Amino acid sequence: ISLKSYNTFGIDVTASHFVSVTTVADLQKVLGLKAYPKKLILGGGSNLLLTNDVDALVIHINMKGIAVVSETDTTIQVKASAGENWHEFVLWCLQKDYGGLENLSLIPGNVGTAPIQNIGAYGVELKDLFVSCTALEIQTGRLQTFLKSDCNFGYRHSIFKQEVAGQYIICSVTFQLTKTNHVLHTKYGAILEELNNMKIQKPNIQAISNAVIAIRQRKLPDPKQIGNSGSFFKNPIVSVATYNSIKQQFPNVPAYTVSNSEVKIPAGWLIEKAGFKGKRFGNYGVHKHQALVLVNYSNASGNDIFKLATLIQHTIKRLFNVSLEFEVNIL
Ligand code: EPU
Repeated sequence: ISLKSYNTFGIDVTASHFVSVTTVADLQKVLGLKAYPKKLILGGGSNLLLTNDVDALVIHINMKGIAVVSETDTTIQVKASAGENWHEFVLWCLQKDYGGLENLSLIPGNVGTAPIQNIGAYGVELKDLFVSCTALEIQTGRLQTFLKSDCNFGYRHSIFKQEVAGQYIICSVTFQLTKTNHVLHTKYGAILEELNNMKIQKPNIQAISNAVIAIRQRKLPDPKQIGNSGSFFKNPIVSVATYNSIKQQFPNVPAYTVSNSEVKIPAGWLIEKAGFKGKRFGNYGVHKHQALVLVNYSNASGNDIFKLATLIQHTIKRLFNVSLEFEVNIL
């Protein structure tokens, strides 16, 4: 079957075998199938670049369901199944006036893959609301619980990306949200600007979500219209010395302090300064409003996009002596 509609880059490769599972019990059964030794787990397909046909049993994680686990007068814990679409889950919370996830509106992908790279945007990361997740150990088929302290969350990072990569399938995630006294995160400059544009002086969580949606729609391509995987690269953390040498040439280089000796520079800025922003190479290229995003206009191959990503890496290394790491998983 074609995997084109199962990855937001819209890359048209085929899978030799494919199954969509809707219960944890089915997932356990499918994992035990000896006839298919090679298996590939597929969630929302939003952080993935497929460069080859897949000769394996593709297991599409499609468990659904949202449930309240516990609550007090002011807070609530909500558990969502891995196959729930992330943004639809955020909207469900907002509709009930549960606060916490509003800055993470409109991020593509599913609930079950969100913890793997600790999705984040506009001053909030998944880890800030995360309580625990359940995950199946592939080797044994056993369901285990990971608490926040087990997950080793960092910037676009968790234990599921490194220490136990490929060993577990996340089945559900529980979040701690607010019912009253919502904490609003409006420090990220773009949000305040947007709220001002919207003439909102006293924002609530729904207004923040609307502001985030407006910013994202302006800057980021909608995968339904133009194939993409969001940020293709992580924002690099560089030494103060490297930062200073860039600053000599570009006094206005944006940067966020990480520690006494390190700063984070937006990869999109570096890529734009290297001249790639909006560059189109036939049916693929670099997004015109956000240089961090590579796009598939139509029928590009994963290898085309991979080659472009590598060219960008080499160019940024040569011009700025900065190494860009992929944010997207290459398969
Ligand atoms: N910038 C440029 N040119 C560009 C893009 C950005 O000069 O083409 C500059 C902007 O002017 C601004 C700075 O870079 O000064 C930061 O830009 P922006 O606010 O768009 O955020 P970002 O650092 O480029 C990160 C995340 C995004 C997330 C936004 C908002 C990473 C790798 N990306 O982008 O996440 O939405 O912040 O919080 O950390 C994603 O992971 O898929 C993603 C879209």
